[in-house]
Amino acid sequence: MVPGFLSLKIGGSLFSAKNVPGSLDTAKVEAFSKRCADLAVRHPGKVALITGGGAFGHGAIRDRPASGRLSLAGLTHATFTVKWAWVEALARVGAEAFPLQLSAMCLAAGDGFRVQSQVLESFLGHGILPVLAGDCLLTEEGEVKAVSSDRVPEILLAAVPRPTRVVVLTDVPGILRGGHANGEVIREVDARNPESVYRELWTRGEWDSTGAMHEKFGALVACALLGAECFIMRIDPYVQDLDFLFAPLEDWPDGLPYTRIA
Ligand SMILES: Nc1ncnc2c1ncn2[C@@H]1O[C@H](COP(=O)(O)OP(=O)(O)O)[C@@H](O)[C@H]1O
Ligand SMILES: [Mg+2]
Repeated sequence: MVPGFLSLKIGGSLFSAKNVPGSLDTAKVEAFSKRCADLAVRHPGKVALITGGGAFGHGAIRDRPASGRLSLAGLTHATFTVKWAWVEALARVGAEAFPLQLSAMCLAAGDGFRVQSQVLESFLGHGILPVLAGDCLLTEEGEVKAVSSDRVPEILLAAVPRPTRVVVLTDVPGILRGGHANGEVIREVDARNPESVYRELWTRGEWDSTGAMHEKFGALVACALLGAECFIMRIDPYVQDLDFLFAPLEDWPDGLPYTRIA
């Protein structure tokens, strides 16, 4: 399929060390920004960039005040700081990008979400690249709850053109088999039968607040069940152009590892 829309998530692990407060690899952000700017110029209104929270997001969850229904509010500030770093880097390479606060366009509703899509649609309609991230969303009970950036593509699905492709870039080349970093990459997952893949996921690190690969995989299974074609992969922005992400899968560069969930 040729995607009508691309939700591109860049994992915090690619530009920030979760366990180092304030960590931001500005060279990496700039390199990715150039690649994203190329994409946004070639496919105006057809791309959303979603940035992971890295040290900022995970830190805000760890360090929140113990009580109060808005105790997680610092997360909206933290993830905005990351969005803003990306928007500035994108502007430096000529991209018209704008940060959107997820909590101002989306509510949590049980395990799902209620999205107000008008604003996003207008930004896209004007060819502006929206930059989104995880956030804390207001629940029906009137408190805020943390939603990881891995869930954002799923939230956007209701608001963006189809067919949608969701690409999640992270620090591993895909979902690995065998419970360790040297396992082979699982190439293809049928979203209707995810159980055997869940068993391959290892438990989260001490510094992770959102369940690492569990969160990613669960979110992409949900996206795929809603009709999106989803990928988990690693890309080196210094060597790899991103334009292939708009090509049908059969035209992708040879030998590129990825896990496809559809
Ligand atoms: N089976 C698996 N295959 C690959 N990675 C896995 C697997 N199980 C757990 N992981 C962990 O998931 C991590 C990626 O998630 P995360 O650290 O949250 O990255 P990001 O910052 O991109 O969200 C990997 O670095 C790895 O430690
Ligand atoms: Mg993560």
